Amino acid sequence: MIAPDDLAFQLVDSFASAPASPRTEAAPWRAAPPAPLGPAVEVGQEPDPGAPRLDLAATLQTRRANRVWSPEPLPAPLLADIIGEGVEADVEEWPDEQPYTPLEITVVAFRVTGLAPAVHHFDGLTRTARPVMELPPPEQRRSLTLQAEFGDAPAIVSVAVDLRTAEARDGGHGYRTLLTRTGAAVHTMWLAGVSHGLTGSAFAGFIPAAVRTPLRTDGTSRQQVFALALGYPPAAPPGGESAAP
Ligand SMILES: Cc1cc2nc3c(=O)[nH]c(=O)nc-3n(C[C@H](O)[C@H](O)[C@H](O)COP(=O)(O)O)c2cc1C
Repeated sequence: MIAPDDLAFQLVDSFASAPASPRTEAAPWRAAPPAPLGPAVEVGQEPDPGAPRLDLAATLQTRRANRVWSPEPLPAPLLADIIGEGVEADVEEWPDEQPYTPLEITVVAFRVTGLAPAVHHFDGLTRTARPVMELPPPEQRRSLTLQAEFGDAPAIVSVAVDLRTAEARDGGHGYRTLLTRTGAAVHTMWLAGVSHGLTGSAFAGFIPAAVRTPLRTDGTSRQQVFALALGYPPAAPPGGESAAP
């Protein structure tokens, strides 16, 4: 039987001896965006009617990953504010990367008032949502993610990146940069959500096979890398602690 490290060395050798693939301009490599299912809608700008925001220290003390939610829907303007904070932070911190590798936001709106129940392409700067994929039927609602419970969240925000362009521009460092940017953006969104009284968890994202065709995630020019499940916390059971684990 071949030892695992021999197998790894064989793979490295065969990659090293493979002819270099010619590099072309990055733009033509990009998979076409997912086909729109309906018109783009601007998500409302009305102020969040909820409780005042926690400050950063209280937010950090409160934050805890959670995978159980209230059935209550999320208001679309609040979700748009939260997504916008993550995207705007990325634009501020990484301005030179934006023309080449903008973060692509996809929102699975299971229960979002003001957004049709569908998977939307979401522009965090213009606050525009465009449906690009129908939701799976209710009996398969939990089929988009490996851990079924993320399918119970009112909303999943997923970030996709263009690995191919990043690799062409910066090699392996391009991949590391995209992971850093995506992690920062998702955690900015998560902390923004916690500061507004929401709960949820950052997680690995969609099952690739579930979104490959409808969202045109070819694994290179469009790859979903990180996600956030968000919603209101479940009500505390009568006379007890919060039902969250
Ligand atoms: C890159 C990354 C991917 C993750 N993927 C998952 C995941 O798929 N499922 C999951 O339950 N937790 C995942 N987590 C962990 C949760 O986000 C969370 O950090 C963990 O449950 C610990 O909870 P805490 O942050 O409250 O300590 C991931 C974390 C990171 C940084």
